[in-house]
Amino acid sequence: MNKIAIVRCEHFNAAHRLHNKNWSDQKNKDVFGKCNNPNYHGHNYDLEVKVIGDCDPETGYVIDTKILSDLIKKYVLDRYDHKNLNLDTQEFKDVNPTAENIAISIYNLLKPKLASDLELKIKLYETPRNFVEYPY
Ligand code: NI
Repeated sequence: MNKIAIVRCEHFNAAHRLHNKNWSDQKNKDVFGKCNNPNYHGHNYDLEVKVIGDCDPETGYVIDTKILSDLIKKYVLDRYDHKNLNLDTQEFKDVNPTAENIAISIYNLLKPKLASDLELKIKLYETPRNFVEYPY
């Protein structure tokens, strides 16, 4: 069969603070700069969810985009959009909410919801010029 990728683009806004509680205030400031601001700051995250698989012979789809967009809304956007990632989520209570860790978390939220023969790749833009890919 011919494997093909389908990509759904989504968007969310969230606040975060990068901080390592085992470090001094000065070291946190040196390493994380503005992202260490004690009162948090926001990003407009752009998310690309790529699903790779065979076309279903009956529908011609890898996955119905409506189903994919509903999954992203339910498991990712409802969880992160307009939230303070450090304060409002369990997963970033003790893990720094970097773009890297957010992308890994999004992968782990979505992967179990997809058919096991589908491959998943996450691309997350924290700014128009900085993005991460997981798995790369
Ligand atoms: Ni930041």
